[in-house]
Amino acid sequence: MLSTVSDYLDKNADRFLEELKEFLRIPTVSADPDCQPHMIRGAEFVHRQLAGLGMKAEIIPTPGHPIVYAEWLKAPGAPTVMVYGHYDVQPPDPLDLWTTPPFDPTLRDGCVFARGATDDKGQVFTHIKSAEAWLKTVGKLPVNLKYVIEGEEEVGSRNLDDFLEANKARLKCDVAVVSDTSQYGLNQPAITYGLRGILAAEVTVTGPRKDLHSGVFGGAVMNPATGLSRMIASLHDDRERVLIPGFYDDVVPLTEAERKQFQELHFSDVEFQTETGVPQLAGESDFSTLERRWARPTCEINGLFSGYTGVGPKTIVPSKATVKITCRLVPNQDPHKLTESLHQYLKDRCPPSLKFEFTGFHGCSAFVFDPTNPYIAAASEAICEAWDVDRVRLIREGGSIPVVLTFKEVLGVDTLLLGWGQNTDNLHSPDEHFAVADFHRGTKASAGLWEKLALLQERQSAPAISSTSNLC
Ligand code: BES
Ligand code: MN
Ligand code: MN
Repeated sequence: MLSTVSDYLDKNADRFLEELKEFLRIPTVSADPDCQPHMIRGAEFVHRQLAGLGMKAEIIPTPGHPIVYAEWLKAPGAPTVMVYGHYDVQPPDPLDLWTTPPFDPTLRDGCVFARGATDDKGQVFTHIKSAEAWLKTVGKLPVNLKYVIEGEEEVGSRNLDDFLEANKARLKCDVAVVSDTSQYGLNQPAITYGLRGILAAEVTVTGPRKDLHSGVFGGAVMNPATGLSRMIASLHDDRERVLIPGFYDDVVPLTEAERKQFQELHFSDVEFQTETGVPQLAGESDFSTLERRWARPTCEINGLFSGYTGVGPKTIVPSKATVKITCRLVPNQDPHKLTESLHQYLKDRCPPSLKFEFTGFHGCSAFVFDPTNPYIAAASEAICEAWDVDRVRLIREGGSIPVVLTFKEVLGVDTLLLGWGQNTDNLHSPDEHFAVADFHRGTKASAGLWEKLALLQERQSAPAISSTSNLC
């Protein structure tokens, strides 16, 4: 990369971090209606950053939280890259497990701690600062850039598809770039070529009209917590296989080549166990930990509540019990069809002494890209330079980013999933953080990427794209 650009990123690193902290102070919790005014402030922050670089930027209202769109299109003939990211964050709960408050960004052990530090404010910010570096030094960018930064990713991107559909022509691009995943490990940057899909639902069973005295009424009315527990216990067998009929029908088995590629990543179950703090690993038999996390579907309970949860005993039969469920899906599984199967399965198992209510939420399908796509080779070169390593891992991930499939279906483009964070950054957990070094290297990799993508286009007339030897 041009040394002037790289020097700019070094010299301004401290200021970038201060600006990121300003971004992190805005509690943009998309799921929380009380955060509505903060969502606007979050969008305004992103808009100010992009407009401040001389880009054509606007805040686009949606029926939910606004989308920030910006473009810089002054590189005729060069590729057009769409940067996607999200300014919304997960709820910070449970608050008492945070060492410092979630919206008071604090530096500790070389990391900035705050909700959204790694997911996704810190990561998306690298692509804004890389553009700044080019524009403030060279005065122009090597590629055309379009930014779509939304505020509803953590609640399923429910208004984004309509925006993409309605703005197809304006959003035309050659490739999308998303930094919202993780590295494979410490100093082991990775490009993610596959993500799992998801379906989300909630079930409430109701017994008595209100909580009842468990001595006076217990034994003669069904306890909703007991009934619901039985229903959800029937979701898996004792080998952790999901029992919903047809759940595995559409799953495409992993190829031997892919299983081998996973094995070659030499994943350490011991380290993973330490990292998670579990007494023992668990999951479907006959699959490795990476296969279970990246390429097998699951059914998870995310929340389970009923009755009295305060201090000390209370003798009641609760009126209701609720469970929140998500299933992670792999390629070829249909979230809508499986939401229906889950609905039917639980309904059939609800005792007649309880009333059954089922709500299906968001869903998206899994996605796997062709890992030999030339953009991946260009990105890996930029990452190797920024991280000063000689190879970039090619991995899949278990998480979901609903929009990547829409990018393919609506805009016809592949997405480069370039994760600067770590899975140990506590995303969605208390004490979320992002290493300052990863933030800085992310800005460099991003700035380098614009150049590599421009070169790729120039090279394209030549017979072969540069080798992918630094990928494994
Ligand atoms: N950034 C994550 C997804 C992610 C994290 C992918 C780490 C791979 C590695 C994203 O913000 C996220 O949390 N997505 C949700 C999607 C859901 C709400 C539709 C998820 O995966 O739970
Ligand atoms: Mn994210
Ligand atoms: Mn997230």
